[in-house]
Amino acid sequence: MTIDKKSAPRIKVTKDGPYVVTGSVPLGEEHIVCGDDGEPAKWAKGPSFPEKESYSLCRCGASKRPPFCDGSHAEAAFDGTETAGRDGYLEHVEKTVGPGVDLTWSEALCMEACFCHRGKGAWAYAEESDDAGNRDEAIEEACACPSGSLVAWDKASGAAIEPASEPGISLIEDPGAGLSGPLWVKGRVPVESADGFEYERRNRVTLCRCGLSKKKPFCDGAHIKAGFKSKP
Ligand code: FES
Repeated sequence: MTIDKKSAPRIKVTKDGPYVVTGSVPLGEEHIVCGDDGEPAKWAKGPSFPEKESYSLCRCGASKRPPFCDGSHAEAAFDGTETAGRDGYLEHVEKTVGPGVDLTWSEALCMEACFCHRGKGAWAYAEESDDAGNRDEAIEEACACPSGSLVAWDKASGAAIEPASEPGISLIEDPGAGLSGPLWVKGRVPVESADGFEYERRNRVTLCRCGLSKKKPFCDGAHIKAGFKSKP
């Protein structure tokens, strides 16, 4: 009999320190690619890192060997206090009901990736979703949202339409804007707070890695205003 010594994928937020990732969670980069209108249009896979059972990812933004923690949080006196709400996604969403698809959006989880601005925007497409092309575009834009703040819902079944995702972490990079973004956590990897609370398990969430979010551990888009660059 073979014994699998791998632990289940998990992310532990440490007090004023890094994210400790266990369970051989694949780690790589994903890049935002903009269309002719300058709005984010699609995702492109970037390089990936060799598999490791466990690793620590910087969440203060000060590491000199990003994306990994090098202990700089101590020197920077990083205040990593977690200020995110602990309720479930559906407890704080705005709903848009369309003829062919519904959308929900949570301001609390939005990281301003702006894939929902493509063309007429996801909400306009949802409102005109009696047209199949508009319905598909609304769904595609919702599924491209890394934080899962925007979700499309099937009218017939009432189920969320989620992109198929295996457990993994993508470091979001925006080469066009010369910015780095959050950690894009996929595939329902549990995220546990420093005091032992497990946040709602979701197919996609984005965790702050610049250290500036007001909704830690989640990204709130503060990296954009700050011009955060993970790499020197
Ligand atoms: S990565 Fe820190 S707010 Fe987005």
